Parts: sequence; structure tokens; C-alpha cells
Amino acid sequence: MTKLSVNINKIATIRNARGANEPNVLKAAIDIQAFGAEGITVHPRPDGRHIRYQDVYDIKPIIKTEFNIEGYPTKEFIDMVKKVKPHQVTLVPDPPESLTSNAGWDTIKNKSFLQEVIGELSDAGIRTSIFINTDLDNIAHATKTNTDRIELYTEPYAAMYAKNKEEAIAPFIAAAELAKKIGLKINAGHDLSLENLKYFSEKIPFLSEVSIGHALICDALYFGLERTIKMYKQLLVK
Ligand code: PXP
Repeated sequence: MTKLSVNINKIATIRNARGANEPNVLKAAIDIQAFGAEGITVHPRPDGRHIRYQDVYDIKPIIKTEFNIEGYPTKEFIDMVKKVKPHQVTLVPDPPESLTSNAGWDTIKNKSFLQEVIGELSDAGIRTSIFINTDLDNIAHATKTNTDRIELYTEPYAAMYAKNKEEAIAPFIAAAELAKKIGLKINAGHDLSLENLKYFSEKIPFLSEVSIGHALICDALYFGLERTIKMYKQLLVK
């Protein structure tokens, strides 16, 4: 069973556009769980342009499913997640000013940095996942960082899906099979959508979790949040 974790950053982006509390991010997180999502993901950035650090503290007590916090491991970020203690932290390598995560970790170059951060999180009882591309050397070295999971960066799959889905999925199958063989659990995310999720999930049936934000919130404009979440979950049914 692959869990659906809904990234609620975009809901905060809409709220922040007017400065008041509409839509209410906490209510959205409660409702999204009630509608069947198995997790909530947030990605606070230092400039607070969508989810803010205060949101992260406020969301934690209302989580009944799984809480995943994504981010670049600055000292401020590490201190915050150690206080919040989510179920999972997903480490991303992008600089704070990035529009969105746009690359995976180089696990060879960053081995000792990741070992240090992951050690600290694991001492705090927090599961870790690292955002990663499909390069097999990178995947092979991911175990040396002591991470529990990897999150496959699926943007290249999504970008090529319409043109040639077999070619698009091939490096992801190879990466996922290697990761499984060396004992890593596998999450996936970025640009997954109603169009491309089913094929990804069928070809890599042992995925632990997908984290989806942008496309799901866009679909909710047309179908509503409840129906949209059910539609995404349906695509994950094996
Ligand atoms: N995974 C990571 C590490 C991300 O940074 C993001 C975007 O915040 C996602 C997954 C979700 O991507 P999308 O919003 O395209 O579904």
C-alpha cells in the first residue's frame, strides 16, 4: 500500500496572498486527513512565502496520520524539526531561494554532511528520507548516509511521460530496484499528477509513499478537495 501525503504549501500560498487566515491551513490539514490522505507534508522556506515555521508548530498537534517536513538542513531547520518531532524529515539540497526543489542530493560529495544531519535526526527519533535523482551511484551511496528512505525526484519522469512513458519510467525502475535491494524504503514526489501517477505506481508497486502538492491542489479547484484526494488514492490501489 502506497501512502498519499498531501503537500499543503499551495494552500498557505493562497492564504499569504491576502495576509489574513483564509483559507485556513490548519482546517485544510484536518480535512485532508479526514478525506483519506495518509499524510501531510509541509516545506517551510526561510522567507516564509508559503508554509511558515509557526504553521509547522501549529499543525503538529492536529496530525492524526503522518507528518512529513521537507527542507534544506540549516541549523534553524534542524532546531525546528527537533522541537516539532514529525514522523519523517525529507532533506532536500536546494538553496533557500529556490522556487521549488529542483535536484537531488549528491550523496557522494555530501556523505559526511548528510551522515551528521541524519545522525542528529535519528538520535531525536525522527525518520529520514533524502531527495535523490535516479543516478545509480548516488542511490548506492545513499545507504552510507544512514538514511531510512530515499525520495525519488520525479520531475524528469513527469516531464517525459506524455512523450514516451516507457522511456520516462525506465531509470526510476532501475533506481527503485537498486534501492530496494540495498534495504532502503522508497518515497517519490514532484510533479506527480492524475495523469502520470497510476503508471508510476504500477511500475514501482513497492513505493512507501508519494508526496503530491501542486497538481493535486490545482485539481481541487475543479473537483474539490475531497473528490480530488479520492481520485489520487484510487490511482494508488494495486
Ligand atoms: N517532494 C519534495 C522534496 C518537494 O520539494 C516537493 C515540492 O515542495 C514535492 C515533493 C511535491 O511536488 P509537487 O508540488 O510538484 O507535487
